Amino acid sequence: MCILKAEDLCKSYRTAGETLSVLSHVSFQMNTGEMTAVMGPSGSGKTTLLQELCGIDIPDSGFVKIRDTELTGMSDGELALFRRRRMGMIFQDFQLLESLNVKENILLPLILDKEDEESQERALKDIVTALDMERLLSKRITEISGGQKQRTAIARAFIRRPELVFADEPTGNLDRKSTEAVMECMKNMKEKYHAGILIVTHDSYVASLCDRVLLLKDGNISERSHNDVAGFLSGGDWK
Ligand SMILES: Nc1ncnc2c1ncn2[C@@H]1O[C@H](COP(=O)(O)OP(=O)(O)OP(=O)(O)O)[C@@H](O)[C@H]1O
Ligand SMILES: [Mg+2]
Repeated sequence: MCILKAEDLCKSYRTAGETLSVLSHVSFQMNTGEMTAVMGPSGSGKTTLLQELCGIDIPDSGFVKIRDTELTGMSDGELALFRRRRMGMIFQDFQLLESLNVKENILLPLILDKEDEESQERALKDIVTALDMERLLSKRITEISGGQKQRTAIARAFIRRPELVFADEPTGNLDRKSTEAVMECMKNMKEKYHAGILIVTHDSYVASLCDRVLLLKDGNISERSHNDVAGFLSGGDWK
């Protein structure tokens, strides 16, 4: 079932009298239960694309539809609420709150929505069991490793069982062993909640674990085979 539809997205940045076209008529769709990698050279617009898809930024033209809801035309407040309730977000630098412990970070979307304690505990138990994080819950963010931080961010992203999760280079700060653990968590979450997951990555290992690979280059997006990915060189020879 289609969970995400991007149609004819265009985006330019205007700075100091110059216009930089980043996205040029980008269209694609994604289904629930599908993990898709977006690859592309540095500066090709991957983060820009994610920002348009989750409504952090508005495209110059084109539209984004999440299941039956079109993001264009929603107010900033509506978009913020929609993101918190219907989407999960995962970032390279984790974006966890160091003043809160692991449990509070995972529960943050529910705390912000003033959900009662019983439903918080129920949601927590489900996700923590699936991600094997019981022993981490009372730890401070400063006490845990990068891989454990990203697992905390994954738990937070999936706490509301969203149908759609965006991850911008989620393994960019991690070594291979933590990358493998994080990708195992992503796969686990995809299978458990049947979510659509879009992962921006430079890592061909990460892309090899995804169901599909999209390449963003020169403002356009194209579907590529896993064999193509094996030949991509980080930051260099993009075909
Ligand atoms: N707010 C902005 N204002 C002006 N230019 C911007 C802005 N954000 C991004 N850009 C430019 O748009 C282009 C695409 O940037 P973007 O961050 O989307 O690329 P990226 O593919 O995510 O790169 P990386 O792989 O390095 O993270 C770059 O040339 C960048 O300098
Ligand atoms: Mg980026």
